[in-house]
Amino acid sequence: MPLQRPRALIVDKDSAETAALLDFLNENGFEAHWAKDGEQAFNMLDRPAPDTAGGVDSAGPEVLISELRAHRVDGIRLLQVAKKRNPEVCVILIADAGSLELATEAMRDGAYDFQLRPLNFPKLLAVVQRGVSHQRLVSRISDLSERLDERFRLPVITGNSRVMQELCSRVAQIASTKATVLIYGETGTGKELIARALHQLSPRKDERIVKLHCAELSENIIESELFGHEKGSFTGADQQRKGRFELADQGTLFIDEISEIPPSVQTKLLRVLQDRQFERVGGNETVKVDVRVIAATNKRLELMSARGQFREDLYYRLRVIQLDVPPLRERKEDIPLLVETFIREMNREHGRKVTGITRGAADRMMEYDWPGNVRELKNTIEEMVVFTQGKRALDVSDLPIALREQRPQRAVDLNLAVGMSMAEIEKRAIEATLRSVGHDKQRAAKILGIGLRTLYRKQKEYGL
Ligand SMILES: Nc1ncnc2c1ncn2[C@@H]1O[C@H](COP(=O)(O)OP(=O)(O)OP(=O)(O)O)[C@@H](O)[C@H]1O
Ligand SMILES: [Mg+2]
Repeated sequence: MPLQRPRALIVDKDSAETAALLDFLNENGFEAHWAKDGEQAFNMLDRPAPDTAGGVDSAGPEVLISELRAHRVDGIRLLQVAKKRNPEVCVILIADAGSLELATEAMRDGAYDFQLRPLNFPKLLAVVQRGVSHQRLVSRISDLSERLDERFRLPVITGNSRVMQELCSRVAQIASTKATVLIYGETGTGKELIARALHQLSPRKDERIVKLHCAELSENIIESELFGHEKGSFTGADQQRKGRFELADQGTLFIDEISEIPPSVQTKLLRVLQDRQFERVGGNETVKVDVRVIAATNKRLELMSARGQFREDLYYRLRVIQLDVPPLRERKEDIPLLVETFIREMNREHGRKVTGITRGAADRMMEYDWPGNVRELKNTIEEMVVFTQGKRALDVSDLPIALREQRPQRAVDLNLAVGMSMAEIEKRAIEATLRSVGHDKQRAAKILGIGLRTLYRKQKEYGL
């Protein structure tokens, strides 16, 4: 595509010299326009010149050549306005011996160059040409780097605790391999963030990362979501459809909440992990794929497999590399940095000017146990920032009630052991949670993620 002729705007008095310069620039590859004074120039800065067709690209001039100081023209002011409208505009000022000092000042304000009268047209042309190619380069670079950022933006894992630092360095080490990774961690600890970082740091980063969230799907469609199906393989399958494995070919497949995969599908999944091949539901054709699998879970798969709910061989296949993301309460050193990061992020997102957090509020945040982990912390900060007007720090009174009125909590050990029944585990969890919140049932139910009525029923059932 040929480059458009660069638009130049000349702001100077009506004179034979101005007319000659206009012609000269037009003959030398520019589309030159003329404004007789400052006011006219202001109007032409962001509007197409009246004699252009006003086509698609109706941006202002790329080059502005202006008298620095003359009757009805204030070159400096014009420079400032032009730069504000288009920071990349190339401004050249015409000075005379008496306005040299002013011209130097203009350079500080962002003028590209200045020329002394009497004007030397070829010299001026050379300067303008250099200015335009410089400006086009700058805007191309900023455009490219924006697109690069977009493409390679690394999910930033914030954390200065030792465990998180170690976790991040393991992530960096294993990202380049094709090894299957199992990420274990409570809800909201950052499992998906880590999965995305693994993909972005891998040689597969230009390919897709495809996600399947098993808990959101009913058991009987997980198989066809993963492996696809052939036309007519079941009622409603009126076309062949590719599954996530095929969609993720050459890239990464992120299987979230893998514990929810039904046993029949576990067998098929095991085979793909071993042989990288499978058949679509209702088909005979063997499909081969090159996919890196990352799985996440908040349930202990080893416990599930001890109880026969998860294939042990699949568990071993998955955990070639296992990453344990510790709950936030076990790495409270991360809280201050996370708080700071989220305040900055939410200020940007919601146009707020929160300056930080007071000591008192920060202390409460450190005391709290964050059952919803980093997600809960992030949501809490977002809510607080949204409701804060003006330039000030978040204070205790801005905290949600649960944090403001918390009683000191001790970390409780549930004393779980392999071989315990689910009922026994549930009983202990409820007991410990109730104790930790001073038997505030409403809070306990919230932490446990169950309804208040369910909590009452379970208390009765377990005789608590
Ligand atoms: N270390 C961290 N640094 C910055 N942001 C984080 C960090 N950990 C988690 N987050 C943010 O917290 C939120 C929850 O993280 P994510 O979705 O990865 O958690 P998860 O472990 O997958 O949770 P769930 O089990 O509920 O799906 C996201 O908005 C994520 O960006
Ligand atoms: Mg998740």
